[in-house]
Amino acid sequence: MAGSQVVLVTGASSGIGRATADLLQARGHRVIGTSRRASPGAAPWTWARLDVTDDASVTACVAGVLASEGRIDVVVNNAGLVMAGAVEDTAIEEARRSLETNVLGAMRLARAVLPGMRERGSGTIVNMGSLAGRVGMPFQGIYSASKFALEGLTEALAQEVAGFGINVALVAPGDTATSVVDNRVRAVASQDPASPYAAACARIVAMYEADERAGAPATGVATLVADLVEGRRRGPRYAVGPVGQRVMVAARGMVPGGVFRWGMSRYFGLRR
Ligand SMILES: NC(=O)c1ccc[n+]([C@@H]2O[C@H](COP(=O)([O-])OP(=O)(O)OC[C@H]3O[C@@H](n4cnc5c(N)ncnc54)[C@H](OP(=O)(O)O)[C@@H]3O)[C@@H](O)[C@H]2O)c1
Repeated sequence: MAGSQVVLVTGASSGIGRATADLLQARGHRVIGTSRRASPGAAPWTWARLDVTDDASVTACVAGVLASEGRIDVVVNNAGLVMAGAVEDTAIEEARRSLETNVLGAMRLARAVLPGMRERGSGTIVNMGSLAGRVGMPFQGIYSASKFALEGLTEALAQEVAGFGINVALVAPGDTATSVVDNRVRAVASQDPASPYAAACARIVAMYEADERAGAPATGVATLVADLVEGRRRGPRYAVGPVGQRVMVAARGMVPGGVFRWGMSRYFGLRR
């Protein structure tokens, strides 16, 4: 779709969301960026308050944008929460929070904007996946589960709404230098030295953090999202970020499962 579009970017207070909102605004779109906080700081676009885990908050946010702008052409479901910890150590409530944000949050937004998009016969939804949604990452199993789920949701939804002129795509970044290191949530039990996983979890999460600090700039992801918003790309799913990580994910489909798992265990120094 050509011309200026009304774009709602969730989780725009930092990292990938902020870079995406800034780039879309610079390209002449009308951007509404969201945060759970009332005053997240200065931005060249409009803030809206939103907690994607809260039905009422999603309804109010979408109603507010429709009232002020008249329509929502694009939603970038970027808001996300990275959860670390051994699966066995993760309490169901801890896992629920992650899945609520990363999967049901995106679904809530989609359900709220799709009626208007169907009525107008056009629209774009971009869901922020992760390379961790293509390979299960040890001690980030709940995060991987949420991003695998988002891949499935996106693929199914895309087929359901294509006939209404709506494009749904998933962008899967590898390590990206953002505030993710500070915002990572940790399963309480995996931080207890009594946990049989505590040492391996701490060591491997430290590896993740080092990779994230040295990750690709968020502007690369933002450029890909902007290309999807502006119709220069129409594909259903993209990987973006460090080449080595994209090759690793691609290799998963080319080598026998046992070989891939052996390589992963070796890389992370895990017992087999
Ligand atoms: N950085 C990476 O290496 C990487 C790699 C692959 C995928 N990703 C994905 O990229 C997305 C953005 O991550 P980031 O790296 O930019 O992280 P970030 O800097 O920590 O940003 C996360 C954003 O999500 C928002 N958020 C969190 N919980 C929310 C909720 N319940 N409702 C509404 N907003 C919420 C935060 O906003 P407030 O706190 O202001 O509400 C913040 O703006 C996530 O979906 C993440 O999984 C990141």
